[in-house]
Amino acid sequence: MALFDELSARLVPHGQEHVLAFWPRLSESQREELARQVSVLDMSRLSEMRTAIDLLARPVARELAPAPVVELADRAFPYRLGAEAERARERGEQALRDGAIACLLVAGGQGTRLGFPGPKGCFPLLPLSQMTLFEVFARKLLRVGRQFGRVPPLYVMVSRQNEGQTREFFEAHRFWGLDPSRVRFFAQGELPSLDGSGRLVLESQGSLFMGPDGHGGVLSALARHGCLDEMARDGIATISYFQVDNAQVPVADSAFIGLHLTRQADVSLKVVRKEDPSERVGIFCADHGVPQIVEYSEFSETQSKQRNPDGKLAYWAGSIAVHALSVAFLRGLVARGIDLPLHAAHKKVAVLNAQGQLEEPAAPNVYRFERFVFDTLPLALRVVALEAPREEQFLPLKNADGPFGPDGVRESMQTYWRKALAHAGLPASADAPPVIEVDPALCENAREIIEFLRKPGNRPMNLAGPLHLR
Ligand code: UD1
Repeated sequence: MALFDELSARLVPHGQEHVLAFWPRLSESQREELARQVSVLDMSRLSEMRTAIDLLARPVARELAPAPVVELADRAFPYRLGAEAERARERGEQALRDGAIACLLVAGGQGTRLGFPGPKGCFPLLPLSQMTLFEVFARKLLRVGRQFGRVPPLYVMVSRQNEGQTREFFEAHRFWGLDPSRVRFFAQGELPSLDGSGRLVLESQGSLFMGPDGHGGVLSALARHGCLDEMARDGIATISYFQVDNAQVPVADSAFIGLHLTRQADVSLKVVRKEDPSERVGIFCADHGVPQIVEYSEFSETQSKQRNPDGKLAYWAGSIAVHALSVAFLRGLVARGIDLPLHAAHKKVAVLNAQGQLEEPAAPNVYRFERFVFDTLPLALRVVALEAPREEQFLPLKNADGPFGPDGVRESMQTYWRKALAHAGLPASADAPPVIEVDPALCENAREIIEFLRKPGNRPMNLAGPLHLR
């Protein structure tokens, strides 16, 4: 059968023959590319996509209630964990010594809001060395290796768009000292988009408008690339999951991992105390009694602002997108053929008109689809949420400016380290405070830096100029 007929046979039964409307005008290579896209499309997903669109218009009725969280014992700087998490730390440390932990960095996003021309991990963030986010994580991992005698393997989820650049960046920097054979890149999947009539959207005459399938694409991507089997074979029971945007994230927090293990959880998460009801973070809560994360966009204003009799926000537990995931649990989902649900978002996207020209829309015109990793929560038998100190562990680089832009993030880092130094008896001058940078391979948080500075010989003599602690 000619290629055109083959593709028609796939598309026509689903009312998608418009995809081939410009076939006669395409070059040989454009035809090949379009054929590749169409042949990997999973047509059975179209109905799932339409359901996601319907849910956007008519969301299911929720019955929300706050869900239990293991809270901090003390929120006063530099913070103390609760007794249970403190006890669990030993279990987590043992797991790290045993090599039973893998780290998973999701870095497949498009970073549109930051407006940086490249993968977000290549962004030079630290104020003195211009160290990039990828190097920050690599150096944190090296530190874990020094502490526990083994560097956990690092799995990096990338997308088709940024895989090449990400790999090249790691290679150009020789993986910052990590063993390249222990760093595994794997590409997430892609999903097409639909217009208001449920038709596949074209971005050019010879290609569909595709996008990464969300961080929840990690489940099927780990399975497809054989990573889950590899982990099971290598004795890795737990994945320490984090996002590329969080510059302060502990990459393998032993107390958190230990808590996940002692409570025999399938999925665990970290939350921070939300002070501002309008903060754009997912909320950890229960819906019909089932613990899960409900995105800020799905929360009503009244619910976000609801307060307890003590004046504190009822829905205070904001997710910082840090998880511990049980490998056995994920393998179980895959074995049962379970994938995470699709979420639709209505976006403004320039698409082709019937004449084959790109047209800028005036209003949202296209539905894009993503899966979210936190949709593993309602599928889990046991879930643990641990409160994390915000200043210490949550400093995401999201936007081009504002508190979550590069300058805002650097400023918050400065405030944090200055506070830590003041606690160690090194108060900075209020008029001309020095710029401080702490090597992520040296210390991860205030408690550690205070301990470091207490050791003889580590105390900086001069607080007048930039201070690079490494
Ligand atoms: C996300 C969470 C939110 C949480 C907040 C904390 C969602 C929908 N929301 O918000 O609950 O409170 O982080 O900072 O996730 N990524 C991929 N592939 C994709 C899409 C994203 O790997 O296809 C990665 C990105 O590279 C990034 C992370 O996932 O590391 C977060 O994605 P992003 O879309 O920026 O999430 P937020 O909306 O900021």
